[in-house]
Amino acid sequence: MTEVIGIINQKGGVAKTTTAINLTATLTQKGKKVLLVDLDPQANATTGLGIDKTNLNYSIRDVLLDECEIEEAIIPTDYENLDILPSNLSLSKVEKQLAGETAPEYILRRYLERIDEYYDMIIIDSPPTLGRLAYNVLVASDSVIIPVQTEYYAMEGVVDLLDAIKEVEDKLYSETEIKGVLLTMHDKREKLTNEVAYLVKEFFKDKMFKTIIPRNAPVKRSAADGIPCVIKYPDSTGAIAYVKFTEEFLERS
Ligand SMILES: Nc1ncnc2c1ncn2[C@@H]1O[C@H](COP(=O)(O)OP(=O)(O)OP(=O)(O)O)[C@@H](O)[C@H]1O
Ligand SMILES: [Mg+2]
Repeated sequence: MTEVIGIINQKGGVAKTTTAINLTATLTQKGKKVLLVDLDPQANATTGLGIDKTNLNYSIRDVLLDECEIEEAIIPTDYENLDILPSNLSLSKVEKQLAGETAPEYILRRYLERIDEYYDMIIIDSPPTLGRLAYNVLVASDSVIIPVQTEYYAMEGVVDLLDAIKEVEDKLYSETEIKGVLLTMHDKREKLTNEVAYLVKEFFKDKMFKTIIPRNAPVKRSAADGIPCVIKYPDSTGAIAYVKFTEEFLERS
């Protein structure tokens, strides 16, 4: 069965998109057929795969508002077995526009169910907010990965996110497992980040992925290049960590 995995944390800049892109690219290199769904108006996952967000026939906004078929909006990328449902800024107005719909939290899930037979896995990149789009991610996902940056306010918002997961289960009757918590952009030379990593591990215990993603310049550079780091700089410590993380992820699937 197709597994749907949301990459989620309403805290901004914790490497959600970087994780979504490099996980997706590594999964396809391992032979999986994967769809990356960009559910962020910033469209960094779209750009990060080298797609021009200003030149799309259709985007995820048109799918959610029923203005095109989901098959029409999905486009292939330069990489084998890797398709994307792209986004652009027009998605930013959708939260409000969905307000009148019945069960607006179920919309993404309903559309993904139409095409999931074509893919082994569907990875969803989330916006840095805990609004209706994020709830759509939670309802559509079988499980979530929570990237946490090892910095002082790392745990800020995490409790709200865990509450939202519980709320989706209790009120929307949709179970979402926490697949794991991933420490990102870690700089082991800094004492503070080591302390934060320790605290996060104490909190999440066996939910932690053992792999920690280091802060690494090629990871940042590849985002600007529009090519996943695991493809552009496969020998970098960041890419090696993302491949190891993907292997750990597959062991939990
Ligand atoms: N391991 C890393 N080493 C160095 N830079 C990184 C690393 N991971 C991510 N970055 C950079 O940090 C910034 C934030 O990462 P990213 O965009 O993936 O976070 P995000 O959680 O998706 O942000 P947002 O909440 O805005 O969507 C980007 O410029 C990215 O290139
Ligand atoms: Mg992002």
